Amino acid sequence: MSDLLNKAREFEDTYKKYADKERPAFHLTGGIGWINDPNGFSLYKEDYHLFFQYHPFSTHWGPMYWGHVKTKDFIKWERLPIAMAPDSEVDEKGCFSGSAIELEDGKQLLMYTGVKEVRRSDGILEDIQQQCIALGDGVDYEKIDRPVLSAQDLPVGASEIDFRDPKIWKEDGKYYVVIGNRTEDGSGAVLLYESEDALHWEYRGIIDRSYNVYGKMWECPDFFELDGKRVLITSPQEMIPIGLEFHAGYGVMALLGEYDKNNYQFNRESVQSVDYGIDFYAPQTLETKDGRRVMIAWMQNWTNIHSQPSGIRLFGSMTCPRELHVENGRLIQNPVKELEAYRTNKVVYKEVPIQTVTSLEGVSGRIIDLTVTVKGKNYSKFKMHIGQDKDHYVSIRYRKDKNVIRVDRTRSGGRFDIVHVRDFVIDEKEELKLRFLIDKYSVELFVNDGRQAATFMIYSPLSAEGITFESDEMVRVDVEKYDIEI
Ligand code: FRU
Repeated sequence: MSDLLNKAREFEDTYKKYADKERPAFHLTGGIGWINDPNGFSLYKEDYHLFFQYHPFSTHWGPMYWGHVKTKDFIKWERLPIAMAPDSEVDEKGCFSGSAIELEDGKQLLMYTGVKEVRRSDGILEDIQQQCIALGDGVDYEKIDRPVLSAQDLPVGASEIDFRDPKIWKEDGKYYVVIGNRTEDGSGAVLLYESEDALHWEYRGIIDRSYNVYGKMWECPDFFELDGKRVLITSPQEMIPIGLEFHAGYGVMALLGEYDKNNYQFNRESVQSVDYGIDFYAPQTLETKDGRRVMIAWMQNWTNIHSQPSGIRLFGSMTCPRELHVENGRLIQNPVKELEAYRTNKVVYKEVPIQTVTSLEGVSGRIIDLTVTVKGKNYSKFKMHIGQDKDHYVSIRYRKDKNVIRVDRTRSGGRFDIVHVRDFVIDEKEELKLRFLIDKYSVELFVNDGRQAATFMIYSPLSAEGITFESDEMVRVDVEKYDIEI
């Protein structure tokens, strides 16, 4: 083991206990320090493994290590020693995002982007990105000392500076990988490679590309079959809003279509945002033992990383894993069913008439799973506050006349003038169903059984736990609330 890796493992072991007070109850954080993207989310032997972009030494991004945990149920995680450090010639500037797969010989293969500095012919230094491999037993990994995909494997016009985040899978006996790239028009694309052994790769084409419509560089692609459709998920940088569907900056989108495997041809039929909140990026999926497609994402956004509250020891956490489906041409997402095993203290209300500001006995908290169903024909505005005390609240407002939900965390303790408000369109439905997972400093909202999701961090004190309901005309509301106990 390299000195660098050994030191990082010791550092994490020594200091992780100092972060325990800050940890959310049922969302994953790093041992200590900074995390970003989920990596290598996959089944290995009997467990689901998750790696992540990790800089344990501070709460800021730095040369990337791969942190490592595993789980049986997506809710309780077991911490494993740090898997990789930027300790080889090909990844001296960082082990960037990637994925993992179990090989037939029982080894676990990690495929990741190694970043390395080179001097260009004009004397300028720049970082190039190449795809690298490490092999291991689920705890310790040995890197292959040369990249398996680099500049010479790129099609004409493709960038070797933005060539990253391989997502590997096996299909019909062969290995495939999709990799994010930037093409000659300056915008993103997803490249496809094929291999017999996961070590030697052949370029097969471009799965899809931005043409400067859907942002610039496309990061962290994932490509899988689901409910009879093919789904491409990617995280574009520098997006321009299109109506209320995409917002400016870093976003995550799902492209749905048909895939002609024989010709490596993806025919896109639709494009949508994956999450309409503020803090959601770089998701990755796996297929469970029982055939479900489960996604996890970094519950942060690059635009907000300099607005960390002071005095913290952890920055960055993961979403609650979500089960995905495609229904009527849309990607649907809901928290994994395994979360239900951790629900306690059920509180139920049926058909409560709501108009003026109302709170309900037993309906409050900051570690809860809460579902609210709103019924009514004549109202045009329904509003909830969550995380409320006399100085703080998060507001969730539904404009029925416009079918728009607004989440607003302006008064939820954030000390920086960053994005606090998002609006998004939902489908016209007779009843509005809102499910909230609130875990201390995060809110994940699922609308109408997962047709839309909106995820964002909040920073108010944990004593701000009130919940209220209000409507401009009388509505009837069903409420089901659980505490989550791990
Ligand atoms: C996405 C990303 C990836 C990259 C990693 C670096 O959040 O920018 O493209 O591999 O983070 O930490």
